[in-house]
Amino acid sequence: MENLLDRKELIKKYIEFFKTKGHKQIPNHSLIPENDPTVLFTTAGMHPIVPFLLGQQHSLGKRLCNVQRCIRTGDIDEVGDTTHHTFFEMLGNWSLGDYFKKEAIQYSFEFLTKVLNIPIEKLAVTVFEGNENAPKDNEAAKIWMDLGISKERITFLPKEDNWWGPAGTTGPCGPDTEMFYWKSKEKVPIKFNPSDKNWVEIWNDVLMQYVKNEKGHYLEAKQKNVDTGMGVERTITILSNLEDNYLSSCFLSIIKKIEEISGKKYNKNKEETKSIRIIADHIKASVFLMADGVIPSNIERGYVLRRLIRRAIRYGRIINIQNFTKQIAEPVFVIYNDYEVLKNNKEKILEELEKEENKFNETLENGIKVFEKIAKDKKKISGQDAFLLYQSYGFPIEMTKELAKEKKINLDEKGFEEAHLKHQELSRTASAGTFKSGLADNSEATTKLHTAAHLLMEALRQVLNKKDLHQKGSNITPERLRLDFNFDRKLTDEELKKIEELVNEKIKQAISVCKYEMSPKEAKEKGAQGVFDSKYGEKVSVYFISDFSKEICAGPHVNNTKELGHLKITKEESSGSGIRRIKAILE
Ligand code: ALA
Repeated sequence: MENLLDRKELIKKYIEFFKTKGHKQIPNHSLIPENDPTVLFTTAGMHPIVPFLLGQQHSLGKRLCNVQRCIRTGDIDEVGDTTHHTFFEMLGNWSLGDYFKKEAIQYSFEFLTKVLNIPIEKLAVTVFEGNENAPKDNEAAKIWMDLGISKERITFLPKEDNWWGPAGTTGPCGPDTEMFYWKSKEKVPIKFNPSDKNWVEIWNDVLMQYVKNEKGHYLEAKQKNVDTGMGVERTITILSNLEDNYLSSCFLSIIKKIEEISGKKYNKNKEETKSIRIIADHIKASVFLMADGVIPSNIERGYVLRRLIRRAIRYGRIINIQNFTKQIAEPVFVIYNDYEVLKNNKEKILEELEKEENKFNETLENGIKVFEKIAKDKKKISGQDAFLLYQSYGFPIEMTKELAKEKKINLDEKGFEEAHLKHQELSRTASAGTFKSGLADNSEATTKLHTAAHLLMEALRQVLNKKDLHQKGSNITPERLRLDFNFDRKLTDEELKKIEELVNEKIKQAISVCKYEMSPKEAKEKGAQGVFDSKYGEKVSVYFISDFSKEICAGPHVNNTKELGHLKITKEESSGSGIRRIKAILE
């Protein structure tokens, strides 16, 4: 293991290099994006700094760099080969309207050839061939050639290959230029062929000239930025003269742990090796997700986490191991001992892993039996069957799909969705009576006042500094809203003014109103307002107005607070003992 380059060494070299070029290091953010409701996870280093790429001033200046933990779930199914991972670290440097193409490429070249000492003969690059949004990037090609990259090692490629972003559905994006390394021991071919698997992409310089808007249009950005991303796992693998990321220092001790527990040898049997890789990858990703506060559940982030843990457990059966997740998580804490968030949450993470494993163990064996029986008798999996496996045996649909694929039989996915939806409808109807919203109708005016009522409740809570202030009744017509809440004295004029101001400030901030489905338990854990002693169904809708207001509610609401206009409180009065009543309008 001694000859392997440690990830921390590469990270240090990178940050130090960019510091000498005037960059400031920014923090490695959470995997849960703070400002982007369009995606579940942080997928790239640029993600947390989107507001600054869009023009907001960053307190550390215009040149930034860091290492960022990332999760990409698009190809969970691809994990099992030598290069795909769900969790990875990305090194990045950014120019916020400062330097552009020339310096970006020069810095990348200098770091690769002078700091990492990669011979220029082993490098090749791709550049954008142009389309209706952006011209062919001859300029980038020329910069590369001036630095000594031969013409044969520069390939122009279309948007599918040489365009990056946005990270979510909207935001900054642009053409890019990607750097490749020849990883094989074979002689390096003179001509670069990007589809030859021996050329591995190690770094991507994105020239962010555009912003994609909600209508899908690419607009010229007010500020031209540089966004780069270098994969830590791939880079330390090649610098350690390896061809398999799982043998690098980012994974090796996890692989060894799995070998030790299972008695199986890595790289001996194809199926077993694939299982070992999947277990290593998924457990690592799960540890990081839980460190950032995700817990296994049946929706959204929690569901991705559940899928990862359960998939790892199922692959554990292939190499004959059970009750292993905690043990395999241990080396993750060692490899990544520079992450405080891992250290601080270790106990909780191991506990949750074990809990989820125990839960799944209870049903996995029987579920597999049921699956085998259905597969044998019916030769296909109906939507109802898949739903049964999901509901009663905890099989994520993706897992049933994978099992069906292994058996080469069909699965009715659409039927599953229908069964799932029907079930949700039923539980929703069962619980609808418990959280009536007090709406007179669903008109636009009422909808706006309804969202305003959420803002108002939170503003009351904050200004009156009373955490246990709750809604005790509401009535909303198209003309005005009326809210009752527990508070034992008259509100002062000053308080009313402050409350009004806070609501109007939130309206001005133009915050997206986002609805998420989750279990009542999760809603409670997330701090959502609601009447938790009443009988909610299995799933509730929680409306988030950023982190400001979180409330269990059946809706409807506006999409963005900016639609509300201006709130005015028209009356404050008593409405019984310990209950106050506020009336307000939108102007
Ligand atoms: N954001 C770019 C990427 O993820 C650098 O490749």
